[in-house]
Amino acid sequence: MESEPSLLVQPYLQTYVFSLFFSITISFSLFSLLLFLLRLKLWCNCDVCRSFLTSSWSFEFDNLCDWYTHLLRKSPTQTIHIHVLGNTITANPDNVEYMLKTRFENYPKGKPFSKILGDFLGRGIFNVDGDSWRFQRKMASLELGSVSIRSYAFEIVTTEIKSRLIPLLSSVSGKEDGVLDLQDVFRRFSFDSICRFSFGIDPGCLELSLPMSEFAVAFDQASRLSAQRAITASPMIWKIKRLLNVGSEKKLKDSIKLINVLAKELIRQRRKKGFAKRQDLLSRFMGTINDETYLRDIIISFLVAGRDTVASGLTSFFLVLAKHPEVSSAIRDESDRVMGPSQEVATFEQIRGMPYLQAALYESMRLYPPVQFDSKFSQEDDILPDGTFIRRGTRVTYHPYAMGRMEQVWGPDCHEFKPERWLKKGIFSPENPFKYPVFQAGLRVCLGKELALVEMKIVALSLLRRFDFESTTPNQAPRFVPGLSATLNGGLPVLVRERGTSPHNHC
Ligand code: HEM
Repeated sequence: MESEPSLLVQPYLQTYVFSLFFSITISFSLFSLLLFLLRLKLWCNCDVCRSFLTSSWSFEFDNLCDWYTHLLRKSPTQTIHIHVLGNTITANPDNVEYMLKTRFENYPKGKPFSKILGDFLGRGIFNVDGDSWRFQRKMASLELGSVSIRSYAFEIVTTEIKSRLIPLLSSVSGKEDGVLDLQDVFRRFSFDSICRFSFGIDPGCLELSLPMSEFAVAFDQASRLSAQRAITASPMIWKIKRLLNVGSEKKLKDSIKLINVLAKELIRQRRKKGFAKRQDLLSRFMGTINDETYLRDIIISFLVAGRDTVASGLTSFFLVLAKHPEVSSAIRDESDRVMGPSQEVATFEQIRGMPYLQAALYESMRLYPPVQFDSKFSQEDDILPDGTFIRRGTRVTYHPYAMGRMEQVWGPDCHEFKPERWLKKGIFSPENPFKYPVFQAGLRVCLGKELALVEMKIVALSLLRRFDFESTTPNQAPRFVPGLSATLNGGLPVLVRERGTSPHNHC
């Protein structure tokens, strides 16, 4: 008998507890939103914030990075703060060294960044800090530093050049309607190469018919839409869209789903067939790691790291060479001296004997770094070497694109493309990495730098020695698409001619 009243009371109690819980959750969410808006300072009415919010900067500048460069050049400290974004941006090498080395622990990638890329990159090296980062960094440094992986990478790139890149360019050579988008070609090239290197699979994107691989399409979409999250006015926007599974967030979810299915299937197959004798990164990591999702995350980070960056570096190299035929000629002369006139692809040793090529590539990335800016989040209140106060939680961004255009950093000729600035008595002379953080610098410096440089050099050489290129949009200022790495809006359309058959030499 005693249990009856409590049975009657229970539904009311449940409803009451549920309503209370619901009200507390809603109040807490509204309070958090309010705090977030207060911190964002969405109403800031200073000139810079107004120009940002109304996009009026675009009347004067082609790209947001050009406007930031302009502001940084005017700033006495080479540092600016965009209040509405809570973002401190610096082009001051002392600050860069401080963030990336001296007080590295205070400037991790941070939670806001890992949330933006988390669905796509998971726990991969690009997206983690602390112990997980240290573990992957150690493992990846050992693998990428080994001689066997370097020769494996060299073999992949050489095969891709001989069997696909050169045949593709030859097939359009001399055709008046044979306009080829070099950016698209380089993206296909680097996707094939990095997939073979990381996964041991060949998507065949650079076959003559230029097929669309569903993996490449899903990968592109996931990178683009993840990067777009970072430029929404507030993270609330993409988070709500993700919750409701609508619009760009639905597309992102679908593409990540496809990537996961393909990656996991590949990992399962590899485990079944055996990985001990294979050379690719996945097989190497499988010896130490069992967790399939973790393996997937690690490899996807490598794909992101090594694909778009290399394609971007090559695209801008050909963009600047189109305006500097004398540099193309000097590269050809140097390579003729080292390789003779008829060899198709340079060897590893020959590449090391070409300082002018290295200088030209460094100079091109000084002006057009593949990663234009990179952000960290301050853990504690801090003061940068130039005196800028940094409140805890502030986003702090170093800006290699602006740094390449600062008189204070590179002198009055900073806008000129001059490979000679990297040479002393004909020998390549590297600069302070914090003045040139194109591969980042300090404790998290790019792990693929040497691989990337060799890859870009052999591709550029093979093409320059065999073909002439004529840009079909020579007077167009470069405009970039927002994304994780610099991509030209509209690509890089060129006419290609086998050398010796062209009426006049171009680049
Ligand atoms: C021109 C080509 C490249 C450029 C300009 C470049 C630039 C960079 C930059 C700026 C970072 C720091 C990113 C960040 O922490 O937010 C980075 C990190 C990294 N890069 Fe590269 N990269 C290039 C090619 C490659 C290639 C080909 C690979 C691999 C095969 C690679 C592997 C990595 C890895 C694993 C990291 C993460 C390092 C860490 O967090 O400790 N990169 N790279």
